[in-house]
Amino acid sequence: MSILVTGGAGYIGSHTVKYLRSLNKDVVVLDDLSKGHREAVLDAPLYVGSIQDGDLIDSICNKHHVTGVIHFAAYSLVGESVKEPIKYYENNVCGTLSLVKSLLRNDVKKIVFSSTAAVYGEPERVPILESDKTVPTNPYGDTKLSIEAMLKWAYEAYGMSSVSLRYFNAAGADPEGLIGEDHSPETHLIPLVLAAALGKRESITIFGEDYPTKDGTCIRDYIHVMDLASAHYLALKKLDESEGAFVYNLGNGEGFSVREVIDVAEEVTSITIPKVIGERRKGDPAVLVASQEKAERELGWERQYSSLAQIIEDAWKWHKAHPDGYK
Ligand code: UFG
Repeated sequence: MSILVTGGAGYIGSHTVKYLRSLNKDVVVLDDLSKGHREAVLDAPLYVGSIQDGDLIDSICNKHHVTGVIHFAAYSLVGESVKEPIKYYENNVCGTLSLVKSLLRNDVKKIVFSSTAAVYGEPERVPILESDKTVPTNPYGDTKLSIEAMLKWAYEAYGMSSVSLRYFNAAGADPEGLIGEDHSPETHLIPLVLAAALGKRESITIFGEDYPTKDGTCIRDYIHVMDLASAHYLALKKLDESEGAFVYNLGNGEGFSVREVIDVAEEVTSITIPKVIGERRKGDPAVLVASQEKAERELGWERQYSSLAQIIEDAWKWHKAHPDGYK
């Protein structure tokens, strides 16, 4: 009996694989390595291929007796999704549709899905509740919301149960330092700040300082990737006990401004990080902070690494030891 992890060679996927294996769970990874890294799965079984390859999914399900799936495989760059929406609908929505069809054919009826805070768009209020309005402001968020809807109807029609996990800002790295974040191109704040600390970039550009926030910079809710990993395990466990299509936010429930993140990074690294003030980035909401209480209450989720300093320390450990990522 195995858990199939699609996109298990990516950032959040690989940390989840490592976490599941630390609990002695049998895991099998499917990743096309278009973004992920072979090294990130460590020694977990890996199939290199597409979630749209039905024959491959049939054979994995048979060979490994797959009973549940954690589905990460997707494109996730907001800016790129605006420029190339069709690519995002094709890969994310059509890819998941094909995966769901294959899973149903194999009678696998438990799926945990990687959703995002981007489903909310510009929030009505913070902290954001799962029941708040979902009006994505970019195709990436819209593909994830469409998949949530697909899963909801798949439960109604076929009894396929699901948990959609809406991540806020995933950050940090494996505290043991074996795996970490390596995106190409990198667009996320914390790895870019740390690249500036390492001298791999000249400076960090702060995207706008005229937002209606305490210091004028955007506020986000940063959540340790290992805390995300544990939530995926609990979500799958929930599907052993209850049927339905569930949705949970995953965040710390606390917001930090871009300036605060840079300040904490300077403390952690003991390096003064050069900063440049730039224009606002299109589509960035001023404040995004989760209410994570539903996940705590219904999944029994307990965060182990909730301090921003800890998140940045673990990321720093990884980037310092792997300045060029997995290369
Ligand atoms: N930022 C900068 N400079 C940079 C990079 C980022 O100032 O060089 C700022 C951004 O404007 C934002 C904050 O740092 O205010 C965090 O930016 P990230 O790009 O790290 O993360 P986002 O909040 O844009 O994105 C996250 C997830 C997405 C998800 C989105 C929901 O990574 O997957 O939240 O809005 F879609």
